[in-house]
Amino acid sequence: MIETISPHPPQLPRPPRSRLPKALQMGQWILDPLAYLRRQGRRHGVLFQASISPQVTGLGPLFLLSEPQALQQLFSNDSGKLFSAPGEVNELLAALLGRHNTILLSGNAHRQRRQLLMPSFHGEHLQSYGRTIGQICRELSGQWQNGSVIDVRQAMQSITMRVILHVVFGLDRSERYDQLMALLSQRLALTATPLTSAILFFPWLLSDLGPWSPGARVAALAERTDALLYAEIAARRAEQNPERRDVLSLLLQASDAEGQALSDLDLRDELMTLLVAGHETTATALTTALYWLHRQPAVGERLERELAALPAAADPAALLSLPYLGAVVQEALRLHPVAMLTFPRRVEVPVELAGHSLNRGDLVMGNIYALHHREDLYPDPGEFRPERFLERQYSPYEYMPFGAGVRRCVGVALAQMELKIVLGTLLREHRFRLCNRLPVQPARRGVTLGHGARVRLELLD
Ligand code: HEM
Repeated sequence: MIETISPHPPQLPRPPRSRLPKALQMGQWILDPLAYLRRQGRRHGVLFQASISPQVTGLGPLFLLSEPQALQQLFSNDSGKLFSAPGEVNELLAALLGRHNTILLSGNAHRQRRQLLMPSFHGEHLQSYGRTIGQICRELSGQWQNGSVIDVRQAMQSITMRVILHVVFGLDRSERYDQLMALLSQRLALTATPLTSAILFFPWLLSDLGPWSPGARVAALAERTDALLYAEIAARRAEQNPERRDVLSLLLQASDAEGQALSDLDLRDELMTLLVAGHETTATALTTALYWLHRQPAVGERLERELAALPAAADPAALLSLPYLGAVVQEALRLHPVAMLTFPRRVEVPVELAGHSLNRGDLVMGNIYALHHREDLYPDPGEFRPERFLERQYSPYEYMPFGAGVRRCVGVALAQMELKIVLGTLLREHRFRLCNRLPVQPARRGVTLGHGARVRLELLD
């Protein structure tokens, strides 16, 4: 017998769905995801069926949800009985990250892997990263020349890549890490535009069709990256240093419930996941924040006044409690949420959600972009106005740039700390001028919402 939590009366309708052919929806979602979300939201409301992923199609109808109460219902019950958070529905990412990582694991294996990872991203570990982040930021920005024009996206990516290599491997510089950084940048550059991102959605585009095909280039880069990662894993297995507390060391010491250690393949996939998820996202959020701080000088000036009140020798940790800096970071992640959607959750028993009935097997994704642009929660949602976060408190289901429930972002605390320290350090030490005269619009970058492929700042002094 099927268990029901809230048997839906027969009159409750199924959520609406677009009449557009699936191929057209896919095309819009890949090439202009924000226009797709806005148009569908205007037509169909807070819960609608979407055809946006051939990998998920076939696993169950997919729905996008942006109503806070229903999001709370979904994400506070996603550990298995009412809803679950299966890994196989994230197949889209397997081409980039492999299959043996947190994002593609399900159930107990997923829970155990998260338990292994979480200590590295919390408590004293996190505190120890603050100073390193400040140092990395000062070192890299110290190389910029006065009067030079900075490609903000690239500059932020070099900072966040160095930070994540430190967190994951415990070191800042080595020949192997420099090579790894270069290869990862080349790999991610292949999906830097909406059009080239299509290779993630249509895996057949990744077939090897000759030396110049995207498939052959991805395969060559993957082979070289894997060789470096496996060499590092082998070196660290041989080193056996119990003093080291970085993520790789913790993973090497860990074993599962049966006492089985993680295999090299598990380690490789997990490292790749953390390296990619941990630096692309933060680089985008930093670019967004720097862009808006200079596009709207009043916001930048208010932040400057807050930073100027800190003592000259203040530790980077002092930046973490500055209210306006915190609000700027929150507003950047609200206006342009790097993850437009959460990962899918699966309905395990028939249920009512946002006035509609859902069936067992349906898949639901949190529509973060639409939630963050609700007029009732965020008046003038298209404006960058950090003050809104000082004027009212938002619940975890009204504001969710890092998702929620059992798959809530593993790196949320690291990301928030990094964003504040990098922005605070850069703006305390330098002054910039925005070179872009026309507004810079966010656009797809791989599976995320990128921003600022063209943002340029001139370093004034
Ligand atoms: C601004 C920066 C970031 C944003 C906006 C972001 C956002 C997200 C979102 C929305 C999810 C899905 C949550 C869900 O489905 O409920 C997620 C998952 C994840 N994030 Fe992040 N993230 C960021 C930075 C990081 C960092 C720094 C790391 C770690 C190094 C990281 C590692 C992960 C991992 C491993 C998952 C998968 C969790 C799971 O499947 O259990 N992220 N992130």
